[in-house]
Amino acid sequence: MSSNVTVPQIEASKVANGAKPLVMVTAYDAPSARVADAAGVDMILVGDSVAMVVLGYDDTLQVTVDDMAHHVAAVARAKPAPLIIGDMPWMSFHVSVEETVRNAATLIRAGAQCVKVEGGRKRIKMIEAIRAAEIPVIGHVGLTPQSANVMGGFKIQARDAHDVRRTIAAAKGLQAAGCFALVVEGVPDIAGQMITDAVDIPVIGIGAGPKTDGQVLVYHDVIGLENRFKPRFVRRYGTAFEDQVESLTNYTSDVRSGAFPGRDETYKTSDDLAESLGLYGSQPT
Ligand code: KIV
Repeated sequence: MSSNVTVPQIEASKVANGAKPLVMVTAYDAPSARVADAAGVDMILVGDSVAMVVLGYDDTLQVTVDDMAHHVAAVARAKPAPLIIGDMPWMSFHVSVEETVRNAATLIRAGAQCVKVEGGRKRIKMIEAIRAAEIPVIGHVGLTPQSANVMGGFKIQARDAHDVRRTIAAAKGLQAAGCFALVVEGVPDIAGQMITDAVDIPVIGIGAGPKTDGQVLVYHDVIGLENRFKPRFVRRYGTAFEDQVESLTNYTSDVRSGAFPGRDETYKTSDDLAESLGLYGSQPT
């Protein structure tokens, strides 16, 4: 998709209607936003996964609206063409409609063009209110990491027919509430396909099989910077952790051996300065 991807463009991207699968990746800072832009992805999700992959927490429950706004702003400063999605963190859309709308607005003012809200039918009231404030919303069903304590961990969802039907009903409800796209996470491939077929808005999968309208992965998983744990649905396209260790190991070794900095990395002392310091003819080589 070309420059400055818009919400209506994404909303119209249904594979069943001939669209190409959508590409979403997370990013949390300006350099990764520039990389995602240069790679031509359609959407950048400033996900609350920042808590785990960047800030070192064990779950996503620790980040606040201010944390998310900080990272959204960093991504937005790169002025990337992909649509910027601000992830609403836990407790930012659970207390009251007023607080929910204000929190969504904080992410928009930080530079997001839309927000994402985790959870099924019980989020409908809040999603309608955000939408009524002219803020586009993406829903998120299936494995919702903010519910990890209720789910007993990061567990695959929709594993029986009842749960598949419940998740499809939730997806339809979120579409009716005004969501322009959905993320479906951590469900068997048949559930990913049935949810995708059940709604007219694009469904972006993560661990939901190949029959969705697009895919999303966490940036650090794609480039191989997160190398501690690889969920089944992740494909690593790089070895960033190993590459960066190699770079820093070479730097360390060069500093210790005196090989860095060399002449090309040094501001030379001018003859005038050397003379005025009484060092003429004895500058360092
Ligand atoms: O925060 C995040 O990275 C997400 C994706 C896993 C969809 O919500």
